[in-house]
Amino acid sequence: MSSDVTVVILAAGQGTRMKSRIAKVLHRAGGRALVEHAIVAALGVAPPERIFVVVGHQAEAVRAVAEAAGVRTIEQKEQLGTGHAVLCGASVLADLGGRMVVTVGDCPLIRAETLQVLAERQYQSAAAAVVLTADVPDSTGYGRIIRDHNGAVMAIIEQKAASEAQRRVKEINSGIYCFDSAEFWRHIRGIRPDNPANEYYLTDMIGILHAAGLRVAATKIADPGELLGINDRVQLAEADCILRDRKSRELMLSGVTIEKPETVTIDLDVKVGMDTIIGPFARITGNTVIGEDCRVGACAILHDAVLEDGAEVFAFSMVSSSKLGANAHAGPYARLRMGAEMGENAHVGNFVELKNTKLGAGSKSMHLAYLGDSQIGQKVNVGAGTITCNYDGKKKHATVIGDGVFVGSNSTLVAPLGIEDGAYVGAGSVITEAVPEGALALGRARQVVKTEWKRKGA
Ligand code: UD1
Ligand code: CA
Repeated sequence: MSSDVTVVILAAGQGTRMKSRIAKVLHRAGGRALVEHAIVAALGVAPPERIFVVVGHQAEAVRAVAEAAGVRTIEQKEQLGTGHAVLCGASVLADLGGRMVVTVGDCPLIRAETLQVLAERQYQSAAAAVVLTADVPDSTGYGRIIRDHNGAVMAIIEQKAASEAQRRVKEINSGIYCFDSAEFWRHIRGIRPDNPANEYYLTDMIGILHAAGLRVAATKIADPGELLGINDRVQLAEADCILRDRKSRELMLSGVTIEKPETVTIDLDVKVGMDTIIGPFARITGNTVIGEDCRVGACAILHDAVLEDGAEVFAFSMVSSSKLGANAHAGPYARLRMGAEMGENAHVGNFVELKNTKLGAGSKSMHLAYLGDSQIGQKVNVGAGTITCNYDGKKKHATVIGDGVFVGSNSTLVAPLGIEDGAYVGAGSVITEAVPEGALALGRARQVVKTEWKRKGA
């Protein structure tokens, strides 16, 4: 990262082809908003205080994303073109000097390395501008790179203004450039909206700098696939697949086993430790952090989850905003949500739901239970079918269970309730009052057996 590099990210456009109420750059791929991808790439080449997102459509929402990432914004109230977008930042950008990279907010596959290579090329060549270009089989819709007979870049001509011969050019403008900042701001006023779209084209800067006798260079992108721009939801899905594929590969190369990697969905910000095994169709999103030697079963869904080393989430389980301690097990078909926390070696089995509940180390709830708003101690056995009645129709109430408690099957624990250390609850009980340490609580009708009973009329 160089301290003399500034990055300007153009992100003020609406993106009508998305057919959406949400600004295009806020749509997500790989678990990040499109503009976040541009910011992450920019952070690889410039410090945050020199990164500027040009906002326009839904400026407030886009600004919030930029601010969360620690970068700055420039407002473009009216979208009068890519050149105008950069001009809107004149008061802050013109004084910064050094190099100015301009990139776009809707190309989420652009890598930080690509921007580094571009900025490095500008530095080495001392050109007034370096344009990132690509040779593509179909250049329709892109600006074409026009070179003189010596191969020097003279201009970029947009589709609408291009002649027949120019339209045949296969070298296209990526929309990403690195300028010598001083030369850029010295010449920017030469841009005029004298084109069929009546816009201030940033691309005109290339011709302007060339006409001023300055050197303009082009550098071809190593992987043209990075230039995939998002205009509609088909391209959004395509980018999403590519980003997740990149993520899976990165994880596998770092020591994570992924079975059928083409089926899993893993967000870019997810972290996974060595020798963890991820099953087919797992979906792991948000800021999930998975330790070493963990297992994530087939079709498990994890969002903002924490799995400490050796923890296992078996097939078809959901874990959101919840944590499994070391060697804890959940599932198959378990659900942990809203701040559930399992201690070391704690186990929950099929059809067990934990909500805002702490299950202490070594405790077990293996079948068919709902444990909500509960504090459960260590080495507790929660029988099949146990339900905490935490809601009285108005308020939520807590259940507190001490260490070593045994809760018999099919118990109904009516909160607020406390069951102290070592206590027993008989199977099938409805418990409404506190159970002291070591006591046995039975809350059910005694069985009646009528031996003399015969069905009437039998
Ligand atoms: C632009 C280039 C074209 C290049 C192509 C690559 C121009 C004139 N043309 O065309 O040479 O081949 O990108 O994809 O620059 N934006 C603003 N404010 C505006 C206008 C646009 O912030 O007033 C933003 C958009 O949100 C978008 C980016 O700039 O992120 C590019 O604008 P867009 O209209 O998509 O330009 P293209 O027609 O694709
Ligand atoms: Ca575009």
